[in-house]
Amino acid sequence: MNIILETERLLLRRFVMDDLDALFAFYSDPNVIQYIPDAPRTYEETKEELEWFLNGHPKFPEIGLWAAIYRETNQFIGRCGLLPWTIDGQHKVEVAFALSKAYWGQGLATEVAQALVKYGFEHLQLSRLICLIEPKNQASINVARKSGMTFEREGRDEKGPFLIYARNNPKIV
Ligand SMILES: CC(C)(COP(=O)(O)OP(=O)(O)OC[C@H]1O[C@@H](n2cnc3c(N)ncnc32)[C@H](O)[C@@H]1OP(=O)(O)O)[C@@H](O)C(=O)NCCC(=O)NCCS
Repeated sequence: MNIILETERLLLRRFVMDDLDALFAFYSDPNVIQYIPDAPRTYEETKEELEWFLNGHPKFPEIGLWAAIYRETNQFIGRCGLLPWTIDGQHKVEVAFALSKAYWGQGLATEVAQALVKYGFEHLQLSRLICLIEPKNQASINVARKSGMTFEREGRDEKGPFLIYARNNPKIV
């Protein structure tokens, strides 16, 4: 198993093709995708995303979306990771997190987001990390804040408005 990082209750590992059914079931919950406008909607789209991220992001293989596994039961409970974006011509890396609803409200997203920030800054030596958040997604805003991010500005693209929360790597000036 190709483990990226471990926290007290979760581990993140690379996706394998056998995750397809669980990933599709995960994205089929409207609660999960409510604030993820570009989430896959069909089995075929889910398969395409899975193939795209199977070995990390194709252009930036050290980052990508990974399977979140609940360690106690070895259950697939979401997908989290680091995603590259180009915003206003600048490369940015987003801390991304989404969990199955049954696992919300236990501090798990905070646990994994904090671990992703540490991994991005200490292991990958990234100079800056951001969260892109739909303005009504208060849980996500809280997770970003609890990961040491502060509000930077609002943005808007063809999918609608979003908030940018950001944090600089204090070890890289
Ligand atoms: C956003 C998400 C990952 C949060 O996961 P979680 O494990 O429930 O988050 P946590 O338990 O770590 O909670 C973080 C904070 O948000 C608060 N919170 C949780 N759900 C909330 C809600 N619906 N409304 C307001 N605050 C909420 C918690 O109370 C906590 O704050 P506190 O510690 O100050 O009390 C989860 O709701 C989810 O997967 N949503 C669907 C996917 C998604 O929107 N991803 C983010 C895209 S930017």
